[in-house]
Amino acid sequence: MRRISPDTKPLVVVLVGLPARGKTYIGRKIARYLSWLGYSTRVFNIGEYRRERLGTHLRQDWFDATHAEGSAARSEMAQAALADLLAFLKGGGDVGIYDATNATRARRDEVAERCTSKGCQVVFVESICEDPTLIEANIRETKLRSPDYAGVDPEEAARDFRARIDHCARVYEPIQDDPLSYIKLIDFGRLMVVHRIHGHVPGKIVSFLMNLHLVRRPVWLTRHGESEFNREGRIGGDPDLTADGDKYARVLAYFVREKSVTPPVIWCSTLRRAVQTTRHMPLRALQWRALDEIDAGTCDGMTYDEIEAQLPKEYADRAADKLNYRYPRGESYADVIQRLEPVIIETERQTSPVLIVAHLAVLRALYAYFTDQKPEECLTMEVPFNTVIELKPGPYGFDERRHVLDLNG
Ligand code: F6P
Repeated sequence: MRRISPDTKPLVVVLVGLPARGKTYIGRKIARYLSWLGYSTRVFNIGEYRRERLGTHLRQDWFDATHAEGSAARSEMAQAALADLLAFLKGGGDVGIYDATNATRARRDEVAERCTSKGCQVVFVESICEDPTLIEANIRETKLRSPDYAGVDPEEAARDFRARIDHCARVYEPIQDDPLSYIKLIDFGRLMVVHRIHGHVPGKIVSFLMNLHLVRRPVWLTRHGESEFNREGRIGGDPDLTADGDKYARVLAYFVREKSVTPPVIWCSTLRRAVQTTRHMPLRALQWRALDEIDAGTCDGMTYDEIEAQLPKEYADRAADKLNYRYPRGESYADVIQRLEPVIIETERQTSPVLIVAHLAVLRALYAYFTDQKPEECLTMEVPFNTVIELKPGPYGFDERRHVLDLNG
């Protein structure tokens, strides 16, 4: 629960659009971003309700508005998903994402009425796309892999899915002159319309969506090379690299040259050990303060044993709640996540490969975002030295691969 102020209303994000317009992709991305920022967020996908209740065997005719049984069942499941979403918000959730076609104006009015009567704010996010290449790519990449078409010949499955889209298109009414709060995404990034959007979280969603695109490029995360403090087991500080640390800087530069088909963007923190790790790179790195290591405040420069012996309460408090524990005059992981938000937005915006050279705590926080995990699940995760974590965008998330670089390679 992370409402900005006690009177902030829970938010319902209602997705709108024909099938194969990227609604699920958009919904999941928004959910991942808001969850990472600490908002309790959940997606309610009507397709999952259908599969759970009726199985995966239903074919296109069932989705025709004139199919009485199909229409009744779909309407009932839409109601059930919305009821669950509202129950989630009543139970303390911050944001519920309603992933269904919500194709008609009447339907959207009904959803808006139901949510506002429960004290929720509602924002519609409509995805419009008429580009046949994008639609076909979406069908091939996501729909044909859906459990609905497991074991079905891909051509047959694609035909069936196109017929399903046609049924929906016959009744579809795009959002137009509706007195609603909405964001319209046209051709996935070509044009965006923002109408009556108010509030902190809806504003964040707008800026997040403005930076999304469909270009596939890797994100490489790595720690700086070994530093003098790492050798001594001391935290924080601004030490130089060791000789092995510099060897890593060299092999990392080689890795980047080898792997980059297009020139990458290279970002590092402002701390010496990170800047030095980029010094052999083919391109100059951009230094971000936001990428600096967690500020250990009065514990900066100490070893963990020294903290435990000299400041046992601090040591115990941190062990009890690592996410929220703030070092005296320093930072918590929750603080680090807040300051990393612009890095996430900028990474999403980039269409070139991105290399981020940073520090253990910062990389754990970034990794949680890219792998869609709660930050608290990553706070003790190992991020080994001399290793590049490669994250490549897939249809719904990032696929991971690790490259361990040989210092003598
Ligand atoms: O030990 C290296 C280091 O980057 C420190 O500078 C930093 O305080 C620490 O790791 C973060 O890890 P943890 O949150 O587990 O203490």
